[in-house]
Amino acid sequence: MSDIAQSVKQQADIVRVIGEYVRLKKAGAQNYSGLCPFHKEKSPSFSVHAVRQFYHCFGCGVSGDVFSFVGKIENVGFPEAIRIVAQKCGIALPKREYNSPEEARESRQRGKLLELHEQATAWFEEQLRLPEGAVAREYLSGRGLTPEAIGRFRIGFAPDNFNALRERLQGSADVEMLRLSGLFSFKQQEDGSSGSIYSRFRKRITFPIANESGRIIAFTARALDSGDKAGPKYMNSPETPLYSKGQVLFNLDKAKQTIRQHDFAILVEGQMDCISVYLAGVQNVLATSGTAFTEQQVNLLKRFTSKVVVNFDPDTAGANAAEKSIVLLTEEGFEIKVVTLEGGLDPDRYIREKGAPAYIAALRSARRQQDYLIDRARQLFPGRNSESKVKALNFLLPHIRRMPSRLTRDEFAADAAQKLGIDSAVLREELKQAAARRREKVVSPTSGVSQVEKILLRGFCGESGHPVFDTLAAALESEPAQFEGLTVRTALESLLHRGSAQPLESISEGRSRALLAQVLLEETDPVTEQEAQFALENLRLQFLEGRQRALRAAISEAERKGDWGLLTALTAEKLSIDRELRAVGAG
Ligand code: CTP
Ligand code: MN
Repeated sequence: MSDIAQSVKQQADIVRVIGEYVRLKKAGAQNYSGLCPFHKEKSPSFSVHAVRQFYHCFGCGVSGDVFSFVGKIENVGFPEAIRIVAQKCGIALPKREYNSPEEARESRQRGKLLELHEQATAWFEEQLRLPEGAVAREYLSGRGLTPEAIGRFRIGFAPDNFNALRERLQGSADVEMLRLSGLFSFKQQEDGSSGSIYSRFRKRITFPIANESGRIIAFTARALDSGDKAGPKYMNSPETPLYSKGQVLFNLDKAKQTIRQHDFAILVEGQMDCISVYLAGVQNVLATSGTAFTEQQVNLLKRFTSKVVVNFDPDTAGANAAEKSIVLLTEEGFEIKVVTLEGGLDPDRYIREKGAPAYIAALRSARRQQDYLIDRARQLFPGRNSESKVKALNFLLPHIRRMPSRLTRDEFAADAAQKLGIDSAVLREELKQAAARRREKVVSPTSGVSQVEKILLRGFCGESGHPVFDTLAAALESEPAQFEGLTVRTALESLLHRGSAQPLESISEGRSRALLAQVLLEETDPVTEQEAQFALENLRLQFLEGRQRALRAAISEAERKGDWGLLTALTAEKLSIDRELRAVGAG
């Protein structure tokens, strides 16, 4: 590591740096823990060691120092990571280092584009203050925005002028860079020559879009006039090296602190909604900018909270976007509530017409997603005949199946049956099935060390004679096949056969020891019998499902070959496995 990197590392506090991305809680004298930003999880297995200045995730196995963290999370190379850490901690860097010429070029380009966006923002702000900006100022004050609010969100005005912005910026960048910024449109000349660029945003209110750290990376601009000539109501920056619409959440830079504090975020559609809610004093608000959530946005949000209140517009588009977002968020394990504002108002208008306290009251009365969805099903298929009920049910079933916990699914199914007035035995059975079907995918090959494996490791750290240890040891000895393929298998075996006086961490080598060290480092309660049972059941399910897959292949192979003797034997085995899986509700 270079001297510069070394010196930045010594001055930076990893807990503080990571704390900007992950909600960390103190979890011991020198440890902090939180939800891992690098894999999906519901209980925290990500820990940061304050003294030794490293992080480690017990769930997916990532670990490293402050640079590796920033590199991973910001998706940048080592030199850029150093720069970011230095900047966050206010450490001055002598000069920049790059791995390759391309890296240097990209970094310069990003820097230049950020600079252009900053200049453009300032210029739009300036235009709003000029006499020509009077219409725009009036418009904004008509929407209840004070000069302070305008300054706070750096709202500006793009005048009805094709060239002024280019003239302003061309001293700082060449045409190619200006084109790359997305601030301009490009017109090919008829003779095929290089053509010219002109302002993309004209006669529009400009709202800067910032990245997580508050740097402006794009704009969305609202037409002052309505009608066909004015073009679309909102116009966004195109995809650029700085900006990709599906990866950004409007207002995240201002909201993230409050989101962490309150442990939930409010999602609205429009940036005007977002601004109004924020100014009403509810600061943990983000805008999706008119679309349903994308997976990248969910992952971004997940670093701050796993609870959301969805407050989309009460029109059809809004309801559809809400539904799509609910699907995605549920799959990612979010706890979701939904607000539908009365009178068909969007958050912005609601606050203006009824006031901030009324809005806050509406937020408090947000419904759980299952109640919202049942109401929505009844609204979409209002009839009381069996056809409408079937349709309503079909609308709900996929949502029910996605809920992560069995308890919630059962409750959801029961509520749905009751509220939809479902009396048919067949439909009730459908509901029951939906509730039974989803099983948590606990052992996933991608997540490195799974929850189940962690339970096993912790359990095996116990003493012989303890019921949990004995149960697990018996299972490993009698059904070794079920432990096949586990990352922690070697570690478990060493633990099983260790002498009673031997310290745990001296047991095995390499990977196993590292795994063990993690478990010992992690301060968790002893494994309960219930957890042990859960882990063993999961192993058995995994095993049976694997066997079922293998049998399916073998059966079709036997069929192809016409080996009827083998086919009979395989089919019999498969039937018995199918039966066992069905019995535990996993068939
Ligand atoms: N949107 C967009 N392009 C459009 C219309 C809308 O990108 N042509 C996005 C914008 O981010 C907008 C959001 O969708 O904020 C919600 O759309 P809408 O409800 O129509 O906008 P409002 O926020 O209600 O706009 P306003 O209050 O300014 O009329
Ligand atoms: Mn709206």
